[in-house]
Amino acid sequence: MEPDPDRTRAFGERLLGMLTGGMLTMLIGIGHRTGLFEAAAHGPVTSAELAERAGLHERYVREWLGAMVTGEIMEYDPADGRYSLPAAHAALLTGATSRNVGPAASSMRTLGSVLPQVERCFTDGGGVPIAEYAKVSAGGLGETWRYIYDEHLVDGFLRPVPGLLDRLRTGVRVLDLGCGTGHAVNVMAREFPRSTFEGLDIAADAIAGAEAERAALGLSNATFAVSDAAALAPAEPFDVIMAFDAIHDQAAPEAVLGLIRDALAPDGVFLMVDTNFATRLEDNAGNPHAPLSYGISLLFCVPTSIATGGTGLGAMWGQERAREMLAGAGFTDVEVLDTPRPQNCMYVCRAVAA
Ligand SMILES: C[S@@+](CC[C@H](N)C(=O)[O-])C[C@H]1O[C@@H](n2cnc3c(N)ncnc32)[C@H](O)[C@@H]1O
Repeated sequence: MEPDPDRTRAFGERLLGMLTGGMLTMLIGIGHRTGLFEAAAHGPVTSAELAERAGLHERYVREWLGAMVTGEIMEYDPADGRYSLPAAHAALLTGATSRNVGPAASSMRTLGSVLPQVERCFTDGGGVPIAEYAKVSAGGLGETWRYIYDEHLVDGFLRPVPGLLDRLRTGVRVLDLGCGTGHAVNVMAREFPRSTFEGLDIAADAIAGAEAERAALGLSNATFAVSDAAALAPAEPFDVIMAFDAIHDQAAPEAVLGLIRDALAPDGVFLMVDTNFATRLEDNAGNPHAPLSYGISLLFCVPTSIATGGTGLGAMWGQERAREMLAGAGFTDVEVLDTPRPQNCMYVCRAVAA
């Protein structure tokens, strides 16, 4: 049967939009990394002035501007040859804020750099070690999260958990498992000086960055350790354990959830911030965040988990599967809260004695 020509034409238009979006995403990454957006936000400029402002070569800047204007990201006035970044667009492309999509666009470069390795996994199996990603961008995938912690950690993530802020103010023992570069720990240690915070991560370079930031902030109530979550066995129980976007990447997520449960004090709470999707593919249809998250899962979460001997649970494990695994680990009381980001939710988990 011949394909419906209208449907083919409409799909062709969508494909052109996708290719254009892919190209503009790469160029937004360039604008972020080279400082072009920050320079453009200061007011209308010619290509030569913008190049000078950003300390770049004009020929390249002019071609980039061509894509920015025709891609309707920037505007051009042919009367005076000046380009401008509308304030409404600058709000989403500049600044040390989680609204800036520059870091996310930039992370596509990191994910793109491992495409040959991931494609090899399709044919040969196996995974891609996390060190391969760090070669391109040390901590780059986590840049947006640093801003999220600055803006939302206390009020957006911790405050909605009943009684938690009071306990943190009074003084409790807190662990951040899979802490990455440790910014969440350092933000909390500064905010709650009577509590003690430990961050653990298997990535030595991330922990080195966490420790350097701790030292620079002069925090004495935070410590960091290079450690495998699969060997979690603290000498003393924790009152609060957190895992931000760090459970589904584990080689052995079920075992780690069990160790977290065992490492908690009887009245302790485990806060698991993870992706906010459904387990069944069909239930994610129409969710505008789903294709991006399946892609990040394919290009990062699955191959890094498989590289360490895991099954590749992936970022799209979904609420139903997460609840099952939390129950299997002994968390009898699990409440799922919204977070300031629609693509993430927070599981507030307790093990209530029967
Ligand atoms: C997506 S990152 C999140 C990092 C951090 N929580 C943040 O929000 O920026 C997941 C982290 O889990 C860590 N990780 C993965 N497997 C681990 C393991 N077995 N033990 C400890 N950390 C692990 C990775 O090194 C990585 O830093």
